Amino acid sequence: MKVATIAITVAALAVGLAVAEPEAPLADIPLPAPRMAGGKPLLTVLKERQSSRAFSAKPLPVQLVSDLLWAAFGINRTDSGKRTAPSARNWQEIDVYVVLAEGAYRYDAKAGILRAVVKGDLRALTGGQPFVATAPLNLVFVADPARMKGVGPADISMYAGADAAFISQNVYLFCASEGLGTVVRGLVDREPLAKALNLPESLRVVFAQTVGYPEE
Ligand SMILES: Cc1cc2nc3c(=O)[nH]c(=O)nc-3n(C[C@H](O)[C@H](O)[C@H](O)COP(=O)(O)O)c2cc1C
Repeated sequence: MKVATIAITVAALAVGLAVAEPEAPLADIPLPAPRMAGGKPLLTVLKERQSSRAFSAKPLPVQLVSDLLWAAFGINRTDSGKRTAPSARNWQEIDVYVVLAEGAYRYDAKAGILRAVVKGDLRALTGGQPFVATAPLNLVFVADPARMKGVGPADISMYAGADAAFISQNVYLFCASEGLGTVVRGLVDREPLAKALNLPESLRVVFAQTVGYPEE
């Protein structure tokens, strides 16, 4: 490359750098108040509950995401702060992460907000099965053992697994009621996912769960 060309390239790069907009950080998403009434009768929902693995890429409306998260692990008794799913000794040690195409968020049930965690599309990291990368939403259930007071290390996985499973079943029932597809997934490469979500080493990824409209 001639000296003049190099000079022009360097100047162009400098201009480019000078005018480039700094990338906007991922913003929190305030959730609309969840719908706490309606849906199909429980026995119909139980009849229709199933795992599915073929999803449309169509995004879920924010109201539906709010309803889904409330059904999963929202607060259903404001006086005590207790939730739609039980947790051993009311530890409430599971945080629900929501991985969307634009970024990953943590569900703050009390504030009704999706707290921004990491910008960018991490969906493919939520599991080895190909549909996870294109389905609109993957939940990741993350346990915080520090909240599990008085339990020995041998029992942490058992309680965290049980508490995450109740949340997962709520998601299954909500999806059956709303005509959405879902599958809970233990097949997760936990270490890279935890890293991508910037989780401290003390936290544990328990399961993931994909949600979306059925593939047409
Ligand atoms: C703890 C747990 C982990 C699971 N992990 C996976 C998984 O990694 N990938 C998957 O496709 N299905 C997974 N499943 C879904 C099961 O395969 C499914 O529930 C089972 O085949 C019965 O089908 P059904 O849910 O339609 O009744 C898991 C289910 C449970 C309860």
